[in-house]
Amino acid sequence: MKPDWQVHNPDGNHRVIVTRRLPGTQWLSILEEADCRIEVWQADHQLDSGTIKTAIGADCKAAIGMLSEKWGPELFSALQAAGAKIYCNYAVGFNNIDIDAATAAGIAVGNTPGVLTGATAELAVALTLAAARRIGEAERFLRAGLFDGWSPTLFLGRLLAGKTIGVVGAGRIGTAYARIMVQGFRTNLIYYSRRPNPELENFVSAYNNFLESQGQKTLTCYRASSIEELLQKSDCVSLHTSLNEHTHHLIDASGLELMKKNAILVNTSRGPVIDETALVEHCRKYPEFRAGLDVFENEPRLAPGLNELENLVLLPHLGSATNWTRRAMAILAAMNLVAILKGWPVWNRDELEVFLGSRPPAAAPSIINADSLGLPFSHQSKLKKQDGHKATAGRLL
Ligand code: DGY
Repeated sequence: MKPDWQVHNPDGNHRVIVTRRLPGTQWLSILEEADCRIEVWQADHQLDSGTIKTAIGADCKAAIGMLSEKWGPELFSALQAAGAKIYCNYAVGFNNIDIDAATAAGIAVGNTPGVLTGATAELAVALTLAAARRIGEAERFLRAGLFDGWSPTLFLGRLLAGKTIGVVGAGRIGTAYARIMVQGFRTNLIYYSRRPNPELENFVSAYNNFLESQGQKTLTCYRASSIEELLQKSDCVSLHTSLNEHTHHLIDASGLELMKKNAILVNTSRGPVIDETALVEHCRKYPEFRAGLDVFENEPRLAPGLNELENLVLLPHLGSATNWTRRAMAILAAMNLVAILKGWPVWNRDELEVFLGSRPPAAAPSIINADSLGLPFSHQSKLKKQDGHKATAGRLL
């Protein structure tokens, strides 16, 4: 019988647990070279907290866990008692983690930002197109053997060019999505975020210079003064905010009512940002309304009625699911672990792909509670993006 946990480098001095199998091998080599004994859960199902606690046992120096697990006071106390210094979430989002409990237990919490920006933005674009052009519906129709030849009226969808895209959360992923939509589809842009995003605004204005030089119509780009304004004015709204007490049900029944009746709503952030029950009602009431969802309020369960609606495109949380991205995330997770075990500083630069090369910096790529734990940073200047979690409670992915 296959063992539940596969052990790599059994003689390693620092015992590390990893709650799912991860793609690639570079992450394992990084941990092995740092004298870690790595125990990896083998089954393709989620571990419950009791099993994770048992796996932590009496001696465990670090853990890599998944966004689908709840890491709260019990697990962090267990890690502390086992001598651990770091937990790393295999994700950029960390709404599944009680950061205060980790900090109280002296455990650094890592995540894996930067390397999944492109993959997640591209998937949001895919959902936008799939919703606009009714790709899910049309594919189901074809596979059901219902296609009996070309028709002038078959699955008429919506053109994106020239429409207005509303981006909620103009962090890394929201910005990448906005740039693809502007450059690829020549859409106008409204964004909603706590701070102005000069990088994005400069990008659109440089693109407008190019359009002007070609004698073509320029595009508009501005920061909305409220979420309501963005919802009212956009033809397509894409959500890229992190999940916290301010963004839970940010899109509820009243927000949906503000949207155009034939608008598109895309969510690749976290499910609870949308009130899913309200969305089901809204999609029933307005069949011309469309949504593309990669994340769900009670993942993996869907709200009753959601999967019966033809005006929805649904994916099983695939935002970062490319081979390159998932390998890169594993490398960042391993680097976070090694850096904290070795007492290296925390990286405070935007550029994270430097960790994927053969000579990565001697630093932890991303530690969420670095400030609260008083950890040293790799660079003196204030350029770091990843401040303490309290200061960034509404931080956008
Ligand atoms: C993340 O990293 O937070 C993503 O949701 C994973 O796909």
